[in-house]
Amino acid sequence: MLQEKIEAIKAQVAEMTADSAEALEALRIRYLSKKGEIAALFNDFKLVPPEQKREMGQRLNEIKTLVTDRINQLREQCQTEAKQANRVDITRPAVPQALGTRHPLSVVRKEIVDIFARLGFTLAEGPEVEDDWHVFSALNFAADHPARDMQDTFFVEQNEQDVTRNIVLRSHTSSVQVRTMDHHKPPIRIICPGRVYRNEAITARAHCFFHQIEGLYIDKGVTFADLRQVLLYFAQQLFGSDTKIRLRPSYFPFTEPSAEMDVTCMLCGGKGCSFCKHTGWVEILGCGMVDPAVLEASGIDSTVYSGYAFGLGIERITNLKYMVKDLRMFSENDVRFLDEFQPVH
Ligand code: PHE
Repeated sequence: MLQEKIEAIKAQVAEMTADSAEALEALRIRYLSKKGEIAALFNDFKLVPPEQKREMGQRLNEIKTLVTDRINQLREQCQTEAKQANRVDITRPAVPQALGTRHPLSVVRKEIVDIFARLGFTLAEGPEVEDDWHVFSALNFAADHPARDMQDTFFVEQNEQDVTRNIVLRSHTSSVQVRTMDHHKPPIRIICPGRVYRNEAITARAHCFFHQIEGLYIDKGVTFADLRQVLLYFAQQLFGSDTKIRLRPSYFPFTEPSAEMDVTCMLCGGKGCSFCKHTGWVEILGCGMVDPAVLEASGIDSTVYSGYAFGLGIERITNLKYMVKDLRMFSENDVRFLDEFQPVH
């Protein structure tokens, strides 16, 4: 009899909970008070035959400790919970803080990087202060090429006798492509976003720094058709599936053949309007097949490998997507302008 009662209480202890001081007190009265269940067991103990007294006595003491410990444990829990509930969070701001927005150039950069990431391009970065080799020489710029001129390039260190020892602020992110070709073997498939600098007067249409994204793909058997298809996919992802592209012959020292790419004007859909100067097209990027001399300069065998490269200005794309008329807006940090780029979701 007594044995069964002890077992029953043991089972109850395992399920015991109390979420308030009142509930806890009720438990204490039910089990541990003078008229409680444990006291009742000690009454029953008087009837236990003498030969079982020793064992039963032990069990009784065990169950009493078990119940007492459990109730104490619940009391501690209740107290710490109450303390936490009353605690004042002194780090909470008095006035709710407004969430900022991403800079429009970051929004567009991410969008572009995501499109190329889906095609297997990985991200590469490099320094903004560069040597002549990575910005010009390795990219097939002749020693007297006008892009090396003071009018275009900011010099950190200029060497009168030997231009190849100049240190410059990079004027394009093609320098990252050179760094990648130096350290990795083909296949190479990278996209390099970054800030670039050119010595231009600051106006609504030009700035002394802006942001580029360049892409490079080198492998066996890469052709101009691959380049065209990737750029078509990119343009349609960015501007919509009706977008058409056209490639016009152009010139860059590091690509041969080279081209500039236009997309159908997003305002008039290609019919012609004042925005696209009634041509129906707007220019968005430069591209071409990597010149074999550039591959060789980085130790890549141009008889085995070929590749394409392309480069675009993030400001230009952002202007086209959001019709921003003045480039200076991007670097003035005027919150009235930045607030217009609220996330859509
Ligand atoms: N680097 C060129 C520029 O700054 C863009 C470009 C990149 C052109 C790759 C062709 C290939 O204008």
